[in-house]
Formats: sequence, C-alpha cells, structure tokens
Amino acid sequence: MCGIVGYIGRRHALPIILDGLKRLEYRGYDSSGVAIITDKGLSIKRKKGKINDLIHHIEHESINGTTGLGHTRWATHGKPSDENAHPHRAGDVVVVHNGIIENYTELRALLQEKGHHFKSETDTEIIAHLVEDHLKSGASFEDAVLASVRQLRGSFALGVLSVRNPDRLIAVREASPLVIGFGNNETIFASDMPAILPYTNRMLFMLDGTIAVITADEVRLMDFNGAALPVHPKQFDISPAMAEKGGYKHFMQKEIFEQPQAITDTLRDRLLFDTRDIDLKDAGIDHKLVHALKRINFVACGTSYHAGLTGKYIIEEMTGIPVDVEVASEFRYRTPLVSTDTLTVAISQSGETADTLAAIRLAKKNGSRVLSICNVIDSTLARESDHVLYTHAGPEISVASTKAFTSQLVSIYLLAIHIGRSLGRLSKQQAASFFDTLVAIPALLDTLLKQEDRIIAIAKQYAKHRDFLYLGRGISYPVALEGALKLKEISYIHAEGYPAGEIKHGPIALVNEDMPVVFVAVQGRVYEKIKNNMEEVKARDGRIISFTNADNAGIRDLSDELFVLPAIDELFTPILSIVPLQLLAYHIAVMNGTDVDQPKNLAKSVTVE
Ligand code: F6R
Repeated sequence: MCGIVGYIGRRHALPIILDGLKRLEYRGYDSSGVAIITDKGLSIKRKKGKINDLIHHIEHESINGTTGLGHTRWATHGKPSDENAHPHRAGDVVVVHNGIIENYTELRALLQEKGHHFKSETDTEIIAHLVEDHLKSGASFEDAVLASVRQLRGSFALGVLSVRNPDRLIAVREASPLVIGFGNNETIFASDMPAILPYTNRMLFMLDGTIAVITADEVRLMDFNGAALPVHPKQFDISPAMAEKGGYKHFMQKEIFEQPQAITDTLRDRLLFDTRDIDLKDAGIDHKLVHALKRINFVACGTSYHAGLTGKYIIEEMTGIPVDVEVASEFRYRTPLVSTDTLTVAISQSGETADTLAAIRLAKKNGSRVLSICNVIDSTLARESDHVLYTHAGPEISVASTKAFTSQLVSIYLLAIHIGRSLGRLSKQQAASFFDTLVAIPALLDTLLKQEDRIIAIAKQYAKHRDFLYLGRGISYPVALEGALKLKEISYIHAEGYPAGEIKHGPIALVNEDMPVVFVAVQGRVYEKIKNNMEEVKARDGRIISFTNADNAGIRDLSDELFVLPAIDELFTPILSIVPLQLLAYHIAVMNGTDVDQPKNLAKSVTVE
C-alpha cells in the first residue's frame, strides 16, 4: 500500500524523505514523489517506477528546504503514471494520501461546478482542491483541512502542506495508519516506523478520526470536530538495524533465518519453566473467559489465514473446542453466527489489514470477544481487540510473510495448551510434554536452516517449471497451501495447494512429467494415506519432491527429491515443514530473477479493501 513520509525540522528535508520512502518500499508501490518548500517556492517531483527512478530524475537539481512530503503510490484509482503519482497540488495546497476516497466522484463533480480543474485520474487530487477551496473562503489552514476531512468518506491517511503556512504540516488519520516521530527540533511522520527509526524512537500512533498539526518542535492533536486531544508519545524498543538486511541478499532470506529468534522471543515470558506451564496473563486469557467458550472463530487474510487453518487442527485437538476459520473478506459480508460465547481470533502481522479489521468490528457487534494475534504493537487491530497476544517477530519487511507465520503458529500453540489445561482436556503430563516440544523448536529450526544448500540444489532442478502442485493431508494441508502461496507470490509461477486426498477428484488430471508435485508427508495419523497419494502421482509420471520426517526406503523410492525434516510430535510439524518450503520458494524466485522483497502487484500492508 502507499507510503507517506513528512518531515519538518532544521535539516534538509529531501534526503530524509527519500530515505524514509526507501524504508517503506516493502509496502509495495508503483510510483513515487516528493514536495519540498524551498526558498525559491514549491518543488514537486513525481515519477512512475521505483524510488531510484525518481532520484535519477532529480539528481541534477538542487531542492533545498526543511519542510516536505514524500509518497510511494500503490495504484487504486488511475493507472500508475507520472501524472497520477502523488503529491497532488491545488494552488498552494499539496496532499499525499494513502487509502480510498469513496465519495470522490460526487466531490469531484461539486468542485468542477465551482470551476476546479483536475490533472490526474486519482481520488486524492480532490482533497487538495477541497482544502484550497476552504482556504479561498477565508478559513485558516487547520480549519480548511478540518472542513475538508469532514466531507470525505472512505479510508485516508493524509499529509498536507500549504505554501502559505511553511512552518507546519498537517497529518490526518482515518482507517489508514500514520505514526509521528518526535525528534530533536524535528518531527517526522510516516505510514510505518522504519521511516522514523533512524531519527527517533519516541513515537505516537495516531488514532482514527484524528488530525495532527505538526511543527519542528510541537505536535497538537485534535479530533474531526477540532476538539484538542492529549499527546502522549511512547518510547519504542526497536533499532533501525532490525529493519535492515544485515548481510543477507534479501529481507525475505534474512527473515527466514530469523525464525529461531522470532520464536524464542514470542515464547519468552510466557513459559513457566518451574512448572512447565504456559502463562498468558499478558493477553488476559483467564479461567473465566476460557470456561465461557463454546466456539473459536479465526478470521484473517493470506498467510495469516493459513496460520488460522493450521490453528483449527491444533486447538480442536488440544482443547476440544470447535474452531471455524474464515478469510476476513468473506466473513465481513456474511451474517456470521457468532455470539457472546464465541472467541473471535484475528490473526494479522501488520494489524492494519482492512478486511481483518472490518471482520472483528462485525464480530464485536454480534457480541463476540476478540483476541488478536498481532505483530505490531499499538496497531489498529491491537487497539480494537479485547485481548492481544503479541507475536514478537520483529519488523517483517519482505512482502512475503515468513517469520510472522511461524510466530503466529507459536502463539496458537501457547493459546491451545493454555486453554487445554484450563479446561482439563490436557493432563499436566501432556501439557508438560508440549511445553518441552515448544522449547525445543528454535534449535530444531537452526539445524534445518543449515541445510539451505540442499534446498538450493532442489530449486536449481525445478526453477524453470511453470506449474507446481503442493499436497498435504491433515495438519500438513495448510502447510501445502502456504508453501504454494509463497512460491506464486514471489516467483509468479503458478502453484496450487490441495489436500492430497482430493487429487483424484480433479487435479490429478494435471499430473505429468512436467508437473513437479511437492508433498508434505509427515509421520502420524495420515502418513500411510499420503503415501498412497504419492503412488497415484508416481503412476502418472509426476515428479515428486518430498518434505518428510519419515526417512524410509518406501518414501525414498517414491520421491525424485527428498528433504528430511527433524522428528517432532505430529501437531507441531507445520512449524518445521513450512521453513524448507519458504526457502524453496525464495531460491526459485531468486533463480528466476524476480523482485523477491517487493513482488509485482503486491503490498505488505493491505489497508484498503
Ligand atoms: C503473504 C502475505 C499476505 C499477508 C496478508 C495478511 O506472504 O504476506 O498474504 O499474510 O496480506 O496480512 P496481515 O497478516 O498483515 O494481516
């Protein structure tokens, strides 16, 4: 999604804004632009393509000024082009925007009647014209912005500047994230923390329906009625290095290798080593809540949805509570059967995914309590949930989610063991044994990651194939879905995930020597069944790549390639088996020369519907 950076202070704004935009590149974008108030007037530069294209475009110009706005655009209204790139200008007013203005057609018509002319196809340009219109009627800059936002419907994070008010910037938040960083004689605001971290750790996440009037030394907050709000920035314990590549070729590779640490950090403080019990006090999941539960309902999107699907197997097995799992974009437009005895569990790395937010609002309206499993402290999802179980994966920059997924799984294990114990469904001994398994996972992952070369060798053989099938059964079925998603999103190779038992009902028609079939075949209750499915694929000349913890002659004979996973209790296998699939997708994408961290058409944080 779009990225916003605003700077006002004593230093040159342009390099700080460009650096901030680069740090937000992971959000996904197709054009970028800057507006700087210089001593010679306003300078606006916009370019389709990457930020480097913009830098190249302005490298011979001197654009000096200490106040400015920058933007990376992910097209919604109007194709990616120089003209549609932000910032947009009307007279003295400049606007950058993340989100969608739903009533822009009406507003545009209204403004056209008043004689305004538009140069782009965007919904954003109308905002600049609205503010200009109010300024022309004599309103102050602040009042003009206030009056304008009250006319807008939709989701919008805005940065606004007025050349006639060069000592201030205005930021607005309504259903799209914005963070303000409080520096020394400088203030920087952005769509996400990485753009701010090199300058300050003192930050404030703006709330929906608020406006910030920002100078170099002061921030004033108000609601859309103009009523003043308190300003309480917090200190965040994150270093800029956590959002850098640290010697790896891509963020995705770094984040895959960070998984043992991310899991350790997510487990930390929740494991009671004396009693081998789980403590979820931080999320407020107490005995009373657990005993009132009749149903758990996961809502999420993409990879987080796959964590929810895996969670169904884990929670039903460990707690006996029925679990439903639904993609948030479907849930939000149904009449869902949730009530006061349902716990809706929203899973989201970013905590800003629009569909997931809409789903929890609907669940709450229907009386359900909401627990979120979320990676971003103070995100909208976290704030709107009754309970939050934070994953501590650290900033995830690559668009393809990896360490967030395994940290989400860890949180689900913690939740399931905790509920299972509370309900007496798990004996003390069983819970203690699961506790030991959780503790052992980071070291097992370290061993697994040391076998990256084996994955590279497999990737080399199959990188040029254009279609893959991923098959799993039981708890490995969501792993197959997630493995296929990883491959398609970063390599643009068609990959389909399927429950292996279903192939004879359709997909087996596709199988031939050109179709690599990835099997996730772990020991447990459906191991013999999935071996039968391998036989079916083999009989049709399919090429089999197996990921298995059952290293025996039978499976070796069936497999063209075999990757051996460490042995672990069947319920915990997904957290290990997904990792080589992440690496396989990563190396195939690298071999195909795609933009691994920012795949085309994708955005990291999907803040629009
Ligand atoms: C895939 C991926 C997406 C996200 C999805 C939800 O690798 O990253 O499918 O999982 O957009 O995002 P969050 O978890 O931030 O709600």
